[in-house]
Order: sequence, then C-alpha cells, then structure tokens
Amino acid sequence: MQHTATIISGPAIVLLALLVCTSACKREPVYIGSPGAAPEDTSGYGIPCNPDSVYFNQQILPILTSNCAMPGCHDQQSHKEGVILDNYTNIRNTGKINLSSPANSKMYRVLNDSDPNDRMPPAPAAPLPLDQRALILKWIQQGALNLSCDPGCDTSNVAFSTGIMPLISLRCQGCHSGTNPSGGVSLANYSQVKATVTSGTLVGSINHKAGYKPMPYPAGSAKLPYCDIRKIQIWIDKGAPND
Ligand code: HEC
Repeated sequence: MQHTATIISGPAIVLLALLVCTSACKREPVYIGSPGAAPEDTSGYGIPCNPDSVYFNQQILPILTSNCAMPGCHDQQSHKEGVILDNYTNIRNTGKINLSSPANSKMYRVLNDSDPNDRMPPAPAAPLPLDQRALILKWIQQGALNLSCDPGCDTSNVAFSTGIMPLISLRCQGCHSGTNPSGGVSLANYSQVKATVTSGTLVGSINHKAGYKPMPYPAGSAKLPYCDIRKIQIWIDKGAPND
C-alpha cells in the first residue's frame, strides 16, 4: 500500500509542547478554544490525495465529530461507555478498533446493528449512510492511520446542491438534523440552511465571530477548512440560491 501523505503527529506534539510551555513558563491562564483562537484545519495543505487511501482528517473525523462526538454521547464530557470520538488520539485509544480483524471492530459493528437502540448513532438518529460505513471499514483495514491530504479548492461553480449541501451534510447534519437538532437549529434542507444565512448565524458561527457560537462544535474545534468557508461565502454572495 502506498501513502503519499504524512502522519501529522509531529506538529501536534510541537503544538502541545508550546501550550504546556506557555502555561508553565508564563503562569498566565491559557484559554484553549476561545472564540477566534481556533485554527483552521490546514492539516492536509500541499499533500496530494491518493484516491486509494482513506484520509482520516478529511474523510473520517468529520463523520465522527458530526454524528458521534456530540453532547450527551461521545464528546469529552459525556464519554458514554468510555468512548470519546472527538480527535485522532481519543478515537484510537477509546474507539474499540480491532486492526487485526477490522470488520469485527466494535466501532464498525455498532454502525450496522439491526436493533435501532443498540445501533450507533441510535434512534431517532438515522443510521450512517452505507458509503460512510464502508469508508470507516476501509480506514480501519488500512491501519486506522492519521492521514491528511489536500483535496484542492475548486470554487468556480459553487451551487447549493453540489457544493454546499454535501459539506453541510458531512460536517453539520449529525447534530443539526432529526427530531431534536442541536441548539434548535436544523440544517436538513435548503430553507433551513437559508434561514441561517438570513439571520447571519451561519456566517457568524463558521467564522467564529464574536457573539455567535463557534461551529463546528464543541468550542475549540478547528474551523472548517478554508475552502469550505470560501464556498459558503461565494454562494451567499450570489444570493444563496437553491441551485
Ligand atoms: C457535534 C455537534 C455539532 C456539530 C458537528 C455542529 N454543530 Fe452547530 N450547534 C451545536 C450546538 C450544541 C449548538 C448550540 C450551542 C449553544 O447554544 O451553546 C449549535 C449551534 C449552531 C448555530 C446557532 C449559532 C448561534 O450563534 O446562534 C448554528 C448556525 C450552527 N450551529 C451551525 C452549524 C454548522 C454550519 C455546522 C457545520 C459546519 C455545525 N453547526 C456543526 C452542535 C453542533
């Protein structure tokens, strides 16, 4: 198997060391994830994507954070059954991944459980789409690595149906759909997304502007990739049509 991407634990360690040092050396409080401080997700910049590889940061993490790491489920605070699915380290340490028998990984099996109460995410949430389940299995089969790549940024033809809805469905709908959407905000269809454009909360939240709840959730999460924010802005600038 050939991976053109690099493993990004190096920069993460440097960052951690910096944080530790800042707090230890300066004796000042360090606010991790205060509004505006969260970095953009730049992990894959400049690394070409190999279509045969599964890229954790671009393909797997958004599925897990949006569908599993929400409050009351598998975020840091709730850690149901000890499982925390909010970042690579926690996912590898607590996610019940079986590298020697990928299809038997509990993390994969629960996605397919026929009992809607045992299935993850449990009812009333819908099961994960089949293609997302297959991707998670493939990721485990490839060693559950922490890979990143740069899918590039094509902003030439941004339409709601092909450019905006797919990213909202990947990164937001796990929390913002169904009968009890987070914050009372549903983003399951055009008119619901449009309402957040009109109110200004979409732009405010994804840009981590003061006065808005920073998204993606929880506070301290990386901002959306620059390309996603750019696409949303381009679409809004042309009147946020249902195209
Ligand atoms: C893991 C769950 C989760 C994910 C993923 C998530 N949100 Fe949220 N969202 C929340 C919660 C919880 C709130 C309510 C926060 C509060 O009231 O403190 C919220 C609130 C909001 C609001 C209202 C903000 C405001 O200031 O009134 C908007 C708009 C929003 N989210 C958009 C998004 C978008 C767009 C995405 C995807 C890029 C997203 N969210 C991803 C959980 C999530």
